[in-house]
Amino acid sequence: MTMYDFDTLIERRGTACSKWDGLKQRFGVDDVLPMWVADMDFASPPEVVEALRRRVDHGVYGYTVMTDSYREALKNWLAQRHQWTADPDWICHAPGVVPALAMLIEAYTQPGDRVLIQPPVYFPFERVIRQNGREVVYNPLVERDGRYEMDFDDLDRKLDGTVRLMILCSPHNPVGRVWTEEELRRLGQLCLERGVFVIADEIHGDLVYPGHRHRPFASLDARFAENSATCVAPSKTFNLAGLNTAMVLIPDTHRRRLYQQVMGRWSVGSLNPFGAVAAEAAYRHGGAWLDALLKYLEGNLAEMRQRLAELTGIRMVEPEGTYLVWLDCRSLGLPDQALDDFFLRKAKVAFNEGRIFGPGGEGFMRANIGMPRALLKEALERIASAVRDLQASR
Ligand SMILES: Cc1ncc(COP(=O)(O)O)c(C=O)c1O
Repeated sequence: MTMYDFDTLIERRGTACSKWDGLKQRFGVDDVLPMWVADMDFASPPEVVEALRRRVDHGVYGYTVMTDSYREALKNWLAQRHQWTADPDWICHAPGVVPALAMLIEAYTQPGDRVLIQPPVYFPFERVIRQNGREVVYNPLVERDGRYEMDFDDLDRKLDGTVRLMILCSPHNPVGRVWTEEELRRLGQLCLERGVFVIADEIHGDLVYPGHRHRPFASLDARFAENSATCVAPSKTFNLAGLNTAMVLIPDTHRRRLYQQVMGRWSVGSLNPFGAVAAEAAYRHGGAWLDALLKYLEGNLAEMRQRLAELTGIRMVEPEGTYLVWLDCRSLGLPDQALDDFFLRKAKVAFNEGRIFGPGGEGFMRANIGMPRALLKEALERIASAVRDLQASR
């Protein structure tokens, strides 16, 4: 018996919620089950809600700084959950991981510089690189026996001295890989040799399934730490994405100063009081809730695995972490727009279209399973019925 309730459906419509209230704007329809943007339909840990309630009751919501206690909460979390001994001085604020990526790119590269990413990957990576006037270099992941891997031969060729920076997605959204220590060491070594600075986006690092272990890139080698900036946040782990609170750990003093200068230029260094309170409470008291959440998500995954195995046409790429599931829909034989329409208008579920994640995403869909089991079952039932209708019509 878990002391946390993930089964009760909480009505989110009417809360200006992107995932539900934003359906019409994003997809043109709103009679669909939303399984797209990466937040969950669960309440945050009760300890977080309670801490926020106390803060609300205070009544004064002025400018807010990062306290020693906040730094210590994150430091302890990283040490206990990931055996990473981080220095609290490394911790910088960010109003989100994507804003952090944009500022890190601005801090460490010049317009026209080349930045490497590993598609199919979280689509804002490419957008922030391009919108900041930098050039994107692809090192596409390769799929072997249903599992994605890094292509080190291609990486070796692409890191030819013209690439200054890479963004590592670890664990990887959308393919669900939790990179092994060996893979990360190989990558880190190559980046050191080629003078490539690594931004490690580890926002999904706490969401890892049994049999896998998230290894913070910077924890593997002091030289990797000095050559990297690591983005973390309580937003995915504890479902706090709307509070716009993230952290960047930058061990190298000079690099840290450069990042802080960009923060200063954009005047975004102030924390919001609710984000600060929620993040600290989550890192101090959220461990048991997270363990229960992971068990629940495993159950959701099992449900999806079983239902999809009964169908032909949709193959689930087994995730090692994250609540995002990468679905290979190529066997349905539908071109891009028809595939979108099939899920939206026939199955009536809203996924993220695979192709927005860049090369290698065509014919795939990304499904978010962070929802009550009953709702997931309903979605899977709709999908099964739509697939049967499609196949019967041929
Ligand atoms: C890899 C990755 N980075 C960053 C984000 C978003 O971070 P934020 O909301 O803090 O900008 C997401 C959200 O899905 C993500 O998957």
